[in-house]
Amino acid sequence: MITQPERYRSTARLLHWIVALLVLPMIAAGLIMTQDGLARPLQDALFLLHKHIGLLVLFLALLRILYRWFNPAPPLPLSMPDWQRRVAQTSHVLMYVLLVVMPVSGFIRVRAGGFPIELLDALGLIGPIPRSKELGDTASALHQAAAFLLIALICLHVAATLYHALIRRDGIWARIWPPSGGD
Ligand code: HEM
Ligand code: HEM
Repeated sequence: MITQPERYRSTARLLHWIVALLVLPMIAAGLIMTQDGLARPLQDALFLLHKHIGLLVLFLALLRILYRWFNPAPPLPLSMPDWQRRVAQTSHVLMYVLLVVMPVSGFIRVRAGGFPIELLDALGLIGPIPRSKELGDTASALHQAAAFLLIALICLHVAATLYHALIRRDGIWARIWPPSGGD
């Protein structure tokens, strides 16, 4: 008899928590570095980190999506109402989409604006994005709108986790924690 797994495999859990640990400071850095009146050296350092860690997030997100494609999520508890399943599944798909939209729009915004991405430049990886104010402004607006949607989804996601872990106590938390071991 084939038994259904009750939790995500350790690869999925590890990738979830590495991406979460990178995305939360990325959001903070993005919001801080775009404030007026920030000291220039701090702003430069935040931009440098934001651009490079953002590209690392893109790589990890694509890896995660590929892994997820071949490894479906374990079935949700039977006690979970249909509407909650739908909200959970839709928000997870949206978060995966945004994990790609965010770095790609950031990348286009930087390249179209003619700004450096130091590591790629040093490696000679200039890329195909033309210099264009219009394209840069569009990518910037998309980056900002997607950032606020992502922040809202993460708040919903964390609130739902707390609800399941503290009120329903239906084992959802143990599906994603701890980040490794116990396959
Ligand atoms: C403190 C922060 C976080 C907590 C407490 C948390 C908690 C959880 C939990 C409990 C699950 C399992 C849901 C289930 O059983 O189906 C989960 C899955 C998921 N989380 Fe998080 N999470 C956090 C941060 C994030 C962040 C920052 C992202 C992405 C931006 C994210 C994206 C996802 C996705 C896409 C899934 C679905 C995995 C899949 O089915 O492939 N999470 N999270
Ligand atoms: C998961 C990845 C990313 C997240 C969560 C993220 C988040 C944010 C946030 C919250 C902001 C402030 C809101 C805004 O003004 O747009 C921001 C700004 C910005 N981000 Fe990102 N970002 C990511 C990836 C990237 C990447 C890969 C780049 C470039 C290679 C980048 C370049 C920028 C730039 C240039 C700004 C300033 C926008 C402007 O003033 O036009 N971001 N980001």
